[in-house]
Amino acid sequence: REVWSSFVVPAALGGFALMSARKTVRTMRELREARAAVAQLAANEERLRLARDLHDLLGHSLSLITLKSELAGRMLPGDPERAAGEVADIERVGRQSLVDVREAVSGYRRPTLAVELAGARTALAAAGIEADVPQAGPDGAVAGGPLAAGQESPLAWSLREAVTNVVRHSGASRCAVVLVRRPDGAVRLTVTDNGTGPAGAPEGNGLTGLRERLALAGGTLATAPGVRGGYTLHATVPAHPAPSPDAAPDLPRGGRP
Ligand SMILES: Nc1ncnc2c1ncn2[C@@H]1O[C@H](COP(=O)(O)OP(=O)(O)OP(=O)(O)O)[C@@H](O)[C@H]1O
Ligand SMILES: [Mg+2]
Repeated sequence: REVWSSFVVPAALGGFALMSARKTVRTMRELREARAAVAQLAANEERLRLARDLHDLLGHSLSLITLKSELAGRMLPGDPERAAGEVADIERVGRQSLVDVREAVSGYRRPTLAVELAGARTALAAAGIEADVPQAGPDGAVAGGPLAAGQESPLAWSLREAVTNVVRHSGASRCAVVLVRRPDGAVRLTVTDNGTGPAGAPEGNGLTGLRERLALAGGTLATAPGVRGGYTLHATVPAHPAPSPDAAPDLPRGGRP
């Protein structure tokens, strides 16, 4: 009995204490590793988001600046006043791009459909493409009502890149944008043109990025030759999109390892 209380019990307790200390050390190490892995994943995700945002923002703005510079150059000899108008537009687009890039870098950029619909009209007009683009209603309502949180941003990005592609690749004379709300609440954007259609070129950063954006929201992207030639792009976002870093990137900044 003496031996138990004076030796075995403390020894056993010491053994348990040692074991649990070892276990704690191991758990803490595992926790640290897991946190590092999560931080790494978040950093990669953030890098991808920034790459997509910069591509889609600048691809569109620089295409517009190029188009308008060409227009201004052509108008300059015969119609300096209209050329000046185009130059004023170039300045505005340049300034807006600076704001956009700053917002993209800080993660606060959230494109809206109303703005991108207006931008689509401007870009198609500058390219001399006859455009059929719906108007957003008051409060940004489209396709018969307001959009659910998380639906708007991926659709707005899709419209922006689709129109940039029409301007850059299609050689079309007409382009139509259609937004439809399906009975299940999903919203589908369709952009069609009457241009050359898909040339069999592999997907670039634009369509790859769009596919990622839409997948993050639980949506889909599909491209195909148009029914009567040309090119068709469909982007669909479900009624209740998955919360995604694209839809809500208001993460605390600068907290990275
Ligand atoms: N409206 C269109 N008409 C004809 N071809 C198109 C159209 N939209 C896309 N494409 C084709 O699909 C390809 C891939 O488009 P994607 O946007 O992924 O890349 P990109 O525009 O070539 O380059 P970027 O990475 O700068 O966007 C294009 O290179 C083009 O060949
Ligand atoms: Mg593109």
